[in-house]
Amino acid sequence: MTITFSELRLDLASALAHFLDPEEASAESLRWFEDGLEWNRAKLASRGDEVATAEVRYQVGQWLRRRRQGEPWAYIIGFERFRGHRFEVTEDTLIPRPETELTLETALEIGRYLGLRKACDIGTGSGILGICMALETDWAVSASDISEGALKVARRNAEKLGARINFSQGDLLTPISDPLELVVSNPPYVDPADASTLQRELSFEPQQALFADDQGLALSTRILRQAAEHRAHAVVLEIGAGQSAELIERAKAFGWKQARARQDWAGHDRILIASG
Ligand SMILES: C[S@@+](CC[C@H](N)C(=O)[O-])C[C@H]1O[C@@H](n2cnc3c(N)ncnc32)[C@H](O)[C@@H]1O
Repeated sequence: MTITFSELRLDLASALAHFLDPEEASAESLRWFEDGLEWNRAKLASRGDEVATAEVRYQVGQWLRRRRQGEPWAYIIGFERFRGHRFEVTEDTLIPRPETELTLETALEIGRYLGLRKACDIGTGSGILGICMALETDWAVSASDISEGALKVARRNAEKLGARINFSQGDLLTPISDPLELVVSNPPYVDPADASTLQRELSFEPQQALFADDQGLALSTRILRQAAEHRAHAVVLEIGAGQSAELIERAKAFGWKQARARQDWAGHDRILIASG
Protein backbone atom coordinates (compact mmCIF):
# COMPACT_ATOMS: atom_id res chain seq x y z
CA MET A 1 0.00 0.00 0.00
CA THR A 2 1.34 3.45 -0.85
CA ILE A 3 0.53 6.66 0.92
CA THR A 4 1.53 10.21 0.03
CA PHE A 5 2.99 12.72 2.50
CA SER A 6 -0.28 14.72 2.44
CA GLU A 7 -2.30 11.60 3.20
CA LEU A 8 0.11 10.59 5.94
CA ARG A 9 -0.30 14.04 7.51
CA LEU A 10 -4.10 13.72 7.47
CA ASP A 11 -3.94 10.18 8.93
CA LEU A 12 -1.61 11.46 11.65
CA ALA A 13 -3.97 14.35 12.51
CA SER A 14 -6.89 11.93 12.90
CA ALA A 15 -4.79 9.52 15.00
CA LEU A 16 -3.79 12.41 17.27
CA ALA A 17 -7.43 13.54 17.47
CA HIS A 18 -8.18 10.36 19.45
CA PHE A 19 -6.58 12.04 22.47
CA LEU A 20 -6.26 15.75 21.50
CA ASP A 21 -8.93 18.14 20.38
CA PRO A 22 -9.10 18.30 16.56
CA GLU A 23 -7.54 21.75 16.25
CA GLU A 24 -4.62 20.80 18.50
CA ALA A 25 -4.25 17.50 16.63
CA SER A 26 -4.01 19.27 13.28
CA ALA A 27 -1.49 21.82 14.62
CA GLU A 28 0.58 19.09 16.26
CA SER A 29 0.63 16.98 13.09
CA LEU A 30 2.11 19.98 11.26
CA ARG A 31 4.78 20.29 13.98
CA TRP A 32 5.69 16.62 13.58
CA PHE A 33 6.13 17.15 9.87
CA GLU A 34 8.10 20.35 10.28
CA ASP A 35 10.31 19.41 13.24
CA GLY A 36 10.44 15.65 12.90
CA LEU A 37 10.48 15.06 9.15
CA GLU A 38 11.66 18.49 7.96
CA TRP A 39 8.55 18.86 5.83
CA ASN A 40 7.19 22.35 6.50
CA ARG A 41 3.84 23.66 5.22
CA ALA A 42 5.38 25.02 2.00
CA LYS A 43 7.00 21.68 1.20
CA LEU A 44 3.78 19.84 2.00
CA ALA A 45 1.85 22.18 -0.30
CA SER A 46 4.28 21.79 -3.20
CA ARG A 47 5.40 18.14 -2.82
CA GLY A 48 2.67 16.56 -0.68
CA ASP A 49 1.74 14.08 -3.40
CA GLU A 50 5.13 12.36 -3.19
CA VAL A 51 4.95 8.85 -1.79
CA ALA A 52 6.12 8.48 1.82
CA THR A 53 8.83 5.85 2.17
CA ALA A 54 8.44 2.83 4.43
CA GLU A 55 11.14 4.35 6.65
CA VAL A 56 9.12 7.56 7.15
CA ARG A 57 5.94 5.60 7.88
CA TYR A 58 7.80 3.46 10.40
CA GLN A 59 9.27 6.54 12.12
CA VAL A 60 5.88 8.24 12.42
CA GLY A 61 4.43 4.99 13.81
CA GLN A 62 7.17 4.85 16.47
CA TRP A 63 6.55 8.47 17.50
CA LEU A 64 2.80 7.84 17.63
CA ARG A 65 3.29 4.82 19.91
CA ARG A 66 5.14 7.03 22.43
CA ARG A 67 2.74 9.95 22.04
CA ARG A 68 -0.27 7.68 22.72
CA GLN A 69 1.27 6.88 26.12
CA GLY A 70 1.05 10.61 26.88
CA GLU A 71 4.71 11.51 26.25
CA PRO A 72 4.84 15.15 25.07
CA TRP A 73 6.08 15.75 21.53
CA ALA A 74 8.87 18.03 22.80
CA TYR A 75 10.45 15.11 24.72
CA ILE A 76 10.08 12.79 21.74
CA ILE A 77 11.81 15.23 19.38
CA GLY A 78 14.17 16.58 22.07
CA PHE A 79 13.55 20.31 21.77
CA GLU A 80 10.98 23.08 22.13
CA ARG A 81 10.87 26.46 20.45
CA PHE A 82 10.85 29.58 22.59
CA ARG A 83 11.34 33.15 21.43
CA GLY A 84 12.37 31.89 17.99
CA HIS A 85 15.14 29.63 19.33
CA ARG A 86 15.32 25.86 19.64
CA PHE A 87 15.93 24.81 23.25
CA GLU A 88 17.00 21.26 23.98
CA VAL A 89 14.73 19.61 26.56
CA THR A 90 15.12 16.30 28.37
CA GLU A 91 13.23 14.54 31.13
CA ASP A 92 15.29 16.69 33.55
CA THR A 93 13.77 19.95 32.30
CA LEU A 94 10.31 21.45 32.16
CA ILE A 95 9.13 22.00 28.59
CA PRO A 96 9.10 25.78 27.97
CA ARG A 97 5.57 27.15 27.83
CA PRO A 98 4.48 29.97 25.49
CA GLU A 99 3.08 31.95 28.46
CA THR A 100 6.57 32.24 29.95
CA GLU A 101 7.32 34.76 27.20
CA LEU A 102 5.20 37.22 29.23
CA THR A 103 7.50 36.62 32.21
CA LEU A 104 10.52 37.31 30.01
CA GLU A 105 9.01 40.45 28.49
CA THR A 106 8.04 41.76 31.93
CA ALA A 107 11.57 41.14 33.21
CA LEU A 108 13.07 42.97 30.21
CA GLU A 109 10.70 45.92 30.68
CA ILE A 110 11.28 46.22 34.44
CA GLY A 111 15.05 45.83 34.13
CA ARG A 112 15.25 48.49 31.41
CA TYR A 113 12.86 50.85 33.21
CA LEU A 114 14.89 50.65 36.43
CA GLY A 115 18.20 50.81 34.55
CA LEU A 116 19.42 47.52 36.04
CA ARG A 117 22.54 45.76 34.77
CA LYS A 118 22.46 42.39 36.51
CA ALA A 119 19.82 39.69 36.42
CA CYS A 120 19.53 36.18 37.76
CA ASP A 121 17.18 33.42 36.62
CA ILE A 122 16.24 31.18 39.53
CA GLY A 123 15.15 27.64 38.62
CA THR A 124 16.47 28.05 35.09
CA GLY A 125 15.43 24.58 33.81
CA SER A 126 16.34 24.47 30.11
CA GLY A 127 17.71 28.00 30.54
CA ILE A 128 15.09 29.90 28.54
CA LEU A 129 14.74 33.00 30.75
CA GLY A 130 18.42 33.52 31.53
CA ILE A 131 19.52 32.76 27.97
CA CYS A 132 16.98 35.11 26.37
CA MET A 133 17.90 37.89 28.82
CA ALA A 134 21.58 37.40 27.98
CA LEU A 135 20.87 37.41 24.23
CA GLU A 136 18.56 40.43 24.29
CA THR A 137 20.40 42.76 26.69
CA ASP A 138 23.94 43.60 27.74
CA TRP A 139 23.17 42.61 31.34
CA ALA A 140 25.39 40.29 33.37
CA VAL A 141 23.20 37.21 33.77
CA SER A 142 23.49 34.37 36.24
CA ALA A 143 21.24 31.34 36.55
CA SER A 144 20.73 28.59 39.07
CA ASP A 145 18.80 25.39 39.51
CA ILE A 146 18.69 22.70 42.16
CA SER A 147 18.75 20.01 39.44
CA GLU A 148 22.15 19.02 38.10
CA GLY A 149 20.47 17.39 35.07
CA ALA A 150 18.60 20.58 34.19
CA LEU A 151 21.77 22.68 34.55
CA LYS A 152 23.64 20.42 32.10
CA VAL A 153 20.90 21.02 29.52
CA ALA A 154 20.82 24.78 30.24
CA ARG A 155 24.61 24.99 29.80
CA ARG A 156 24.40 23.19 26.44
CA ASN A 157 21.59 25.51 25.31
CA ALA A 158 23.57 28.59 26.36
CA GLU A 159 26.64 27.39 24.52
CA LYS A 160 24.73 26.51 21.36
CA LEU A 161 22.95 29.89 21.31
CA GLY A 162 26.04 31.89 22.24
CA ALA A 163 24.71 33.26 25.56
CA ARG A 164 27.18 34.13 28.35
CA ILE A 165 25.75 33.04 31.68
CA ASN A 166 27.21 32.29 35.07
CA PHE A 167 25.52 29.02 36.09
CA SER A 168 25.44 27.54 39.59
CA GLN A 169 23.68 24.70 41.33
CA GLY A 170 21.77 24.99 44.60
CA ASP A 171 18.66 26.00 46.46
CA LEU A 172 17.02 29.16 45.06
CA LEU A 173 19.18 32.29 45.61
CA THR A 174 21.72 30.57 47.89
CA PRO A 175 24.32 29.77 45.19
CA ILE A 176 24.22 33.26 43.62
CA SER A 177 27.12 35.22 45.03
CA ASP A 178 26.92 38.31 42.77
CA PRO A 179 25.14 41.37 44.18
CA LEU A 180 21.52 40.96 43.13
CA GLU A 181 19.66 43.52 41.05
CA LEU A 182 16.86 41.82 39.10
CA VAL A 183 15.61 38.40 40.25
CA VAL A 184 13.54 36.56 37.66
CA SER A 185 11.93 33.18 38.12
CA ASN A 186 9.33 30.78 36.84
CA PRO A 187 9.37 28.62 39.97
CA PRO A 188 7.34 25.47 40.60
CA TYR A 189 3.92 26.79 41.64
CA VAL A 190 1.38 24.00 41.18
CA ASP A 191 -0.53 22.96 44.30
CA PRO A 192 0.14 19.21 44.92
CA ALA A 193 -3.57 18.89 45.83
CA ASP A 194 -4.37 19.55 42.13
CA ALA A 195 -2.10 16.75 40.88
CA SER A 196 -4.90 14.32 40.04
CA THR A 197 -6.74 16.90 37.89
CA LEU A 198 -3.78 17.71 35.63
CA GLN A 199 -3.13 16.62 32.03
CA ARG A 200 -1.38 13.23 31.81
CA GLU A 201 1.48 14.84 29.84
CA LEU A 202 2.58 16.57 33.06
CA SER A 203 3.46 13.21 34.63
CA PHE A 204 6.40 13.03 32.17
CA GLU A 205 7.84 16.32 33.43
CA PRO A 206 10.11 16.58 36.52
CA GLN A 207 7.80 16.80 39.52
CA GLN A 208 10.39 19.04 41.19
CA ALA A 209 9.78 21.56 38.41
CA LEU A 210 6.03 21.63 38.90
CA PHE A 211 4.90 21.29 42.49
CA ALA A 212 5.41 23.46 45.56
CA ASP A 213 4.06 23.05 49.08
CA ASP A 214 1.84 25.62 50.79
CA GLN A 215 -0.76 25.38 47.97
CA GLY A 216 1.93 26.06 45.38
CA LEU A 217 3.26 29.19 47.10
CA ALA A 218 6.27 27.85 49.04
CA LEU A 219 9.04 28.58 46.54
CA SER A 220 7.63 31.91 45.31
CA THR A 221 7.41 33.02 48.94
CA ARG A 222 11.01 31.99 49.68
CA ILE A 223 12.28 33.79 46.56
CA LEU A 224 10.50 37.01 47.59
CA ARG A 225 11.94 36.76 51.11
CA GLN A 226 15.50 35.87 50.03
CA ALA A 227 15.55 38.59 47.36
CA ALA A 228 14.43 41.18 49.95
CA GLU A 229 17.15 39.98 52.36
CA HIS A 230 19.75 40.29 49.56
CA ARG A 231 18.47 43.83 48.85
CA ALA A 232 17.66 43.04 45.23
CA HIS A 233 16.06 45.95 43.35
CA ALA A 234 13.18 43.97 41.84
CA VAL A 235 11.66 40.52 41.47
CA VAL A 236 9.63 39.24 38.51
CA LEU A 237 7.90 35.93 39.20
CA GLU A 238 5.63 33.78 37.08
CA ILE A 239 2.72 32.71 39.31
CA GLY A 240 -0.38 30.54 39.08
CA ALA A 241 -3.79 32.08 38.41
CA GLY A 242 -5.37 32.84 41.79
CA GLN A 243 -2.06 33.22 43.68
CA SER A 244 -1.51 36.99 43.33
CA ALA A 245 -3.43 38.38 46.33
CA GLU A 246 -1.66 36.17 48.89
CA LEU A 247 1.79 36.69 47.32
CA ILE A 248 1.35 40.49 47.16
CA GLU A 249 0.52 40.50 50.86
CA ARG A 250 3.56 38.33 51.66
CA ALA A 251 5.85 40.46 49.46
CA LYS A 252 4.81 43.61 51.35
CA ALA A 253 5.40 41.84 54.67
CA PHE A 254 8.99 41.08 53.51
CA GLY A 255 9.57 44.81 52.93
CA TRP A 256 8.89 45.23 49.20
CA LYS A 257 7.45 48.75 48.82
CA GLN A 258 5.55 47.92 45.67
CA ALA A 259 4.06 44.59 44.71
CA ARG A 260 1.57 44.14 41.90
CA ALA A 261 0.38 41.57 39.42
CA ARG A 262 0.33 41.60 35.64
CA GLN A 263 -2.35 39.79 33.69
CA ASP A 264 -2.09 37.48 30.71
CA TRP A 265 -4.28 37.83 27.59
CA ALA A 266 -7.03 35.81 29.28
CA GLY A 267 -7.16 38.34 32.13
CA HIS A 268 -5.56 36.12 34.79
CA ASP A 269 -2.91 37.50 37.15
CA ARG A 270 0.15 35.47 36.03
CA ILE A 271 3.16 37.65 36.87
CA LEU A 272 4.12 39.16 40.21
CA ILE A 273 6.36 42.23 40.20
CA ALA A 274 7.94 43.39 43.48
CA SER A 275 10.23 46.40 43.69
CA GLY A 276 11.50 49.17 45.97
C1 LIG B 1 8.70 25.60 36.47
S1 LIG B 1 10.35 25.07 36.17
C2 LIG B 1 10.93 26.46 35.21
C3 LIG B 1 12.02 26.13 34.24
C4 LIG B 1 12.34 27.27 33.27
N1 LIG B 1 12.76 28.45 34.00
C5 LIG B 1 11.14 27.58 32.40
O1 LIG B 1 10.53 28.66 32.60
O2 LIG B 1 10.80 26.78 31.51
C6 LIG B 1 11.08 25.31 37.76
C7 LIG B 1 12.55 24.98 37.89
O3 LIG B 1 12.92 25.23 39.26
C8 LIG B 1 13.82 24.23 39.69
N2 LIG B 1 13.75 24.13 41.16
C9 LIG B 1 12.83 23.48 41.92
N3 LIG B 1 13.10 23.67 43.23
C10 LIG B 1 14.21 24.47 43.29
C11 LIG B 1 14.97 25.01 44.35
N4 LIG B 1 14.64 24.79 45.63
N5 LIG B 1 16.04 25.77 44.06
C12 LIG B 1 16.38 26.01 42.75
N6 LIG B 1 15.70 25.53 41.70
C13 LIG B 1 14.61 24.76 41.96
C14 LIG B 1 13.37 22.97 38.96
O4 LIG B 1 14.43 22.03 38.89
C15 LIG B 1 12.93 23.55 37.61
O5 LIG B 1 13.99 23.50 36.68
